[in-house]
Amino acid sequence: MLDADLSPQEIAAWLRETNEERLQTLWDAADRIRRERVGDAARLRGLVEISNRCARNCLYCGVRAERRVERYRMTQTEILECAKFAKKNGLATLVLQAGEDRTLDAGFVAETVRAIRDDFGLTITLSLGERTDSELVRWKEAGALRYLLRFETSNPALYAALHPDVDGAGLEGRISVLKRLREIGYEVGSGVMIGIPGQTFDDLTRDLALFRELDLDMIGSGPFLPHSETPLGALEIRDGYWETSSFQSENAAASRFTFRYPTSNDQVPNTNDLTFKVVALSRILCPDANIPSTTAVATLDGSGGRKSALSRGANVIMPNLTPTKYRRLYEIYPNKAATFEDAETTLQTALRQIAEIGRFPGVGPGSSKRFLARVADVSKRER
Ligand code: 5AD
Repeated sequence: MLDADLSPQEIAAWLRETNEERLQTLWDAADRIRRERVGDAARLRGLVEISNRCARNCLYCGVRAERRVERYRMTQTEILECAKFAKKNGLATLVLQAGEDRTLDAGFVAETVRAIRDDFGLTITLSLGERTDSELVRWKEAGALRYLLRFETSNPALYAALHPDVDGAGLEGRISVLKRLREIGYEVGSGVMIGIPGQTFDDLTRDLALFRELDLDMIGSGPFLPHSETPLGALEIRDGYWETSSFQSENAAASRFTFRYPTSNDQVPNTNDLTFKVVALSRILCPDANIPSTTAVATLDGSGGRKSALSRGANVIMPNLTPTKYRRLYEIYPNKAATFEDAETTLQTALRQIAEIGRFPGVGPGSSKRFLARVADVSKRER
């Protein structure tokens, strides 16, 4: 049965499935569950990349601290302009995303959240990395409702190999922040990259089981896309290990961090096909979650990728509203979709894609049903 009780063995078998006819039953089940549980409305979330500064050195990411790239941080006025655009165009949610920018002051974020709520009444999602407990509490009190923080992989050794920062608390730290976000009262989102070097089908199976265990409200996953100016963008295989290529480590501009991780004949490919399986299985395992068709999918296959994900379990699109002049600087991976567009064009494209598959844009905040049930539960207990 294709339902939320799928066993790890069944999840793994679906991830490895290649038979087109059998796969069609997976797509159909995910699409049916999506329709029954969250409906035909495609939820639009306006994405604003408010800063590309970052304190961390994640080996895959194009805005990692040590990469030489022009850095920017948007002003409050610029962010409010984006909020105004969202409001004018009927978007109910604004997502404020940034690198782990410690210069992004907690007070600034709190005031900006408050201003967006007061002036435009938008629902606010934050995606600002691992921040201190008091910051997360403060932003919730300021009126932010949701928080996105991908755990990237549930394999602790692979996680550690990808995130070498001395002050990072590893996978365990990441998961505990996710649990804290839930306690603080956020609607919580997470997700993974698909096809990271060294990532196996068994790893990905555990990622999906962890989505279910964490009872996530939002699940965003996309293919890993190598960026040539990062250690993971230049790998070679030596003695059964993925390693940062010697070219990269000899290069003056190269990283002081290197990657070393065992290769496997169980390697997950970084393709949209695998991503669609993860999207479909995420829907089946977490039927009430909000699941976006992500920008990385659109980067591999523009319109087709977007629409396929929406037809295989996804119900959210996050059109980029970042001012055009900043977009090329938020280059977490190369050829990122919509880099050279303005907000108007990006939004119109999303609306067209939704219409082309016979769906319609949602109205209102569109919180996950799991979240609404949880909030109702808490207030019942408090009464
Ligand atoms: N390829 C694909 N996704 C990436 N991300 C960061 N770098 C890359 C890359 N090279 C994803 C991470 C992060 C999100 C904001 O972008 O999953 O959480």
